[in-house]
Amino acid sequence: MEAFKMTDNVIGFRFGNPVETGVIQGEKTQVEVNLPIELREEGGRISFTLKLTENDRVYGLGPNLGGINKRGRIYESYCTDDPLHHEDKTTLYGAHNFFVLEDDDVATGFFIDFPGRVKYDVGFTTLEELQVEIHGQDFDIYLLEGASIKEIVASFHKLAGKPYMPPKWGLGYFQSRWGYQTEEDVKKVYETFKEEEIPLDGIYLDLDYMEDFKDFTLSEERFPNFKDMALKMKEEGVRLIPIIDAGVKIEEGYPVYEEGIKGDHFVKDKDGKPYVAAVWPGKVHFPDFLKEETQRWFGDQYKILTDAGIEGVWNDMNEPAIFYDETSLQEGVEAAILAQGGNLNVNAFFSLRDKFMNIGNKLEYYRRFFHEIGDRRLTNEEVHNLYGYMMTKSASLGLKKHLGKRHVLISRASSIGMHRYGGLWTGDNSSWWSHLSLNLRMLPSLNMSGFYYVGADTGGFGGHVSGELLTRWLQLSVFTPLLRNHSAIGTRVQEPYAFGDVLTRANKKHIERRYMLIPYLYSEMLKTYETGGMMFTPLAFEFFGEEAQQAEDQMLLGEELMLAPVVSQNAKGRYVYLPEDMVLVDFKKYDSSLTLLKDGVHYVSYSLEDLKFFLRRNRLMPYTMPSQTVKDQDLSILKVLGYVDTEAVYVLYDDDGESFGYEQGKIYKTTLYARKLETGGMKVEAKSNHPDLQTVNFTLMDGTGEIWNEEVKVQRG
Ligand code: GLC
Repeated sequence: MEAFKMTDNVIGFRFGNPVETGVIQGEKTQVEVNLPIELREEGGRISFTLKLTENDRVYGLGPNLGGINKRGRIYESYCTDDPLHHEDKTTLYGAHNFFVLEDDDVATGFFIDFPGRVKYDVGFTTLEELQVEIHGQDFDIYLLEGASIKEIVASFHKLAGKPYMPPKWGLGYFQSRWGYQTEEDVKKVYETFKEEEIPLDGIYLDLDYMEDFKDFTLSEERFPNFKDMALKMKEEGVRLIPIIDAGVKIEEGYPVYEEGIKGDHFVKDKDGKPYVAAVWPGKVHFPDFLKEETQRWFGDQYKILTDAGIEGVWNDMNEPAIFYDETSLQEGVEAAILAQGGNLNVNAFFSLRDKFMNIGNKLEYYRRFFHEIGDRRLTNEEVHNLYGYMMTKSASLGLKKHLGKRHVLISRASSIGMHRYGGLWTGDNSSWWSHLSLNLRMLPSLNMSGFYYVGADTGGFGGHVSGELLTRWLQLSVFTPLLRNHSAIGTRVQEPYAFGDVLTRANKKHIERRYMLIPYLYSEMLKTYETGGMMFTPLAFEFFGEEAQQAEDQMLLGEELMLAPVVSQNAKGRYVYLPEDMVLVDFKKYDSSLTLLKDGVHYVSYSLEDLKFFLRRNRLMPYTMPSQTVKDQDLSILKVLGYVDTEAVYVLYDDDGESFGYEQGKIYKTTLYARKLETGGMKVEAKSNHPDLQTVNFTLMDGTGEIWNEEVKVQRG
C-alpha cells in the first residue's frame, strides 16, 4: 500500500496497480500513513466494514434507488440497463463510488476509485454495519475529512474537477419521444408547440432519424431534408438533438464500420477478433472507448452531425447494453430445436424460457470482450464502469473540436469523472409515482458526484402516463437543469398538450415559469462551476435535528429556495416541514403571492395549476418574464422576489451562454441587495456589468409580512 496526501483533509491510499481512471486531479504527495480501516481479502475481492451507530446517516452513491439516506439497502456500482427499476434492484445506469458517512459530530467522505463492480451493503444484512466489497484488488481509496458534509463535498469536487457546463439553451424545455419516426412527425410537434405558444428549445431525435440504426447516418427516406430542417428550426431557437448509440453496425460499405476495422478500434473477443454483440441494428461491434485513439476517431464522427447544424447529442446504450451475443443466441436456438415437439416439464420449460427471457445484458457477455490498456488486456467486467464515461469523453472532445462552442451532451451510463464531459439523464424510468419521488431523492446524490446537468425522463419513459402525473412531474422538473419530456414507443402520447385543455393550460404555465426561472437556475449552474458544492441539498445537510433528516421529500435549491413538490396521486396539497421561518411563493407570471410562514409543519394546498416553493429568510431570487425560447429572453428587466428580514444579497451570474469564456472568468455579475431600514423603509440596490440589464423590480416581504415593491435603475460596475 502507498499513501498520498492530496490536501490537508484528503488522503489517498493505493492498493495494487489500479487502472488509470482519470477521475482525481491534482498533486499527490507521498506520506507515511496507514489506512485506518481493516481490509479483508477473499477470492480476489477486497472488503471492509464500517460500524454504523443508530444515528449514522450515509449519503451519496449517485443515481440509485432508496432514500437520500442510503441506509437499509444493498447497492452495486455496475452500470446496468434495467428499465423497470423495481424496489429490489441494486444497480441502475450510473456507478458512483462517492459517499459520506455522518453522525451528529463528524462526517467522513469515501471515494473508491475503481472501475469494476463495488457492492455496498448499507445496514441491510447487519443493521449496524456498512459492508463494502470491491471486486478486485487494484484500486485507490480516498478519505475526506471536513467540518460538514457540504465541506467534504466541496473538497471532493476540487479533486474530481470542474463540471461540464451546457450552453444556456440547454436549460430550455425539450420534447422527446421514441416514436417520432419521420420529419413530418417532428414538424408536427414543433408546429403544435408554436400554435399552443408553449416554450420549446429543442426536440430530441430517437433512433428513427438514422438509416437502419447506423450511427452517424441520416435516413434519406424518413428525414430527406434533415439539414434544412435542423437549420431552419435553429434559426427559430429550436434545436434537434439526435441520439448516438454505442454499438456500430457490422455492414460492409458502412464507413464507420470499415474505418473502425481498419483502425483497430473495436473491443476484441478472447481470440483477438472484434467482439460481436447485438443491439438495435442487429450485430454490432463496440468501439474501445478506453483507448485514446478510438476516443479521437469516434469523436471526429460527430462532425457529420455538427455539419448538419446539430449542437447537441445524447449518447445511449453505453453501459454497454447488449440484446444478445452470438454464443447465447446459438445456445438458445439449439435448446429450442432440441425441445421441438417435446413434452417439457416445469424445469425443462423454465430452462428453455430463461435462455431467451434473460438473454439481455448477461454478466458473461462482459467477460467475453476485452479492452487494451497499455500492455494490459482486461475484460470489460473489470473496467465496466468506464465505458459510458469514456464514450462521453470522446463525444465531448469531438463536439468541442467541430463546433467550436458549447454543446448539449447527455449520457445514459455514467461514473464519476464523466461529469467533466457531459450531463446525464437518469435512464429509463416508468410513469410511476414512485419514480417521480425517486427523481427528487436522486438529485442531491448526483450533485455530490459532481453532476449538475441532470434530469429524469419527465412523465416517465415506460408505461402510460396519466395527465395528473405528467403535470406533477413538470412541477418538479421545471427546477432541474435538464428538462426533457421523453417516453417510449407504444406508450400513451406524452406531450404537454396531449391531456385536454385544462392540463394543457397548466403544463404551458409550468413551462413558462421554467423560462422565468432560467436566470436563477443558470446562475446557480455557473456558481457550482466556480465553487463546487451542491445545487440540490437535502435539508439534513443544512439544518440540525431529526425533522430535517426525515424530510426526504423536500429539497433546498441553491441557498435561496426550498422545494416541496407533490409526488402522490389525487393529492390537493401536502404537509411541509419548515426548519425556519420561510415565505411561501405562489409563483405566477404576474402578481406572485407571498405568505410568511413560521417554522414547523404546515399543510399547503397545491393544485395542478400552481407552482409553489419557499424562499428562505434574507434571500433574494431573481427571475425574468417568460419567452418562447431561451434566445428570446429579455434580460433588460430583471425581477426579484425576496424575504428580507434584515438584509439580503444575491449575486446573479450570467455569460454569453455559448462560449467557453466562463472558464477564464468571463462572467457577468449582478449584485442585488436589499436592506430593511431601522426607520422602517426598504433599501434596494442593483449593481451590474451585464450589458443588457437596465432595471430591477423587487417584490420583497419583510419579517412582519409587509410587502415592498421597489424599482431601481442598475448601477454600472
Ligand atoms: C433506450 C433509451 C431510451 C430510448 C430507447 C430507444 O431505452 O434509454 O431513452 O428512447 O433506447 O433509442
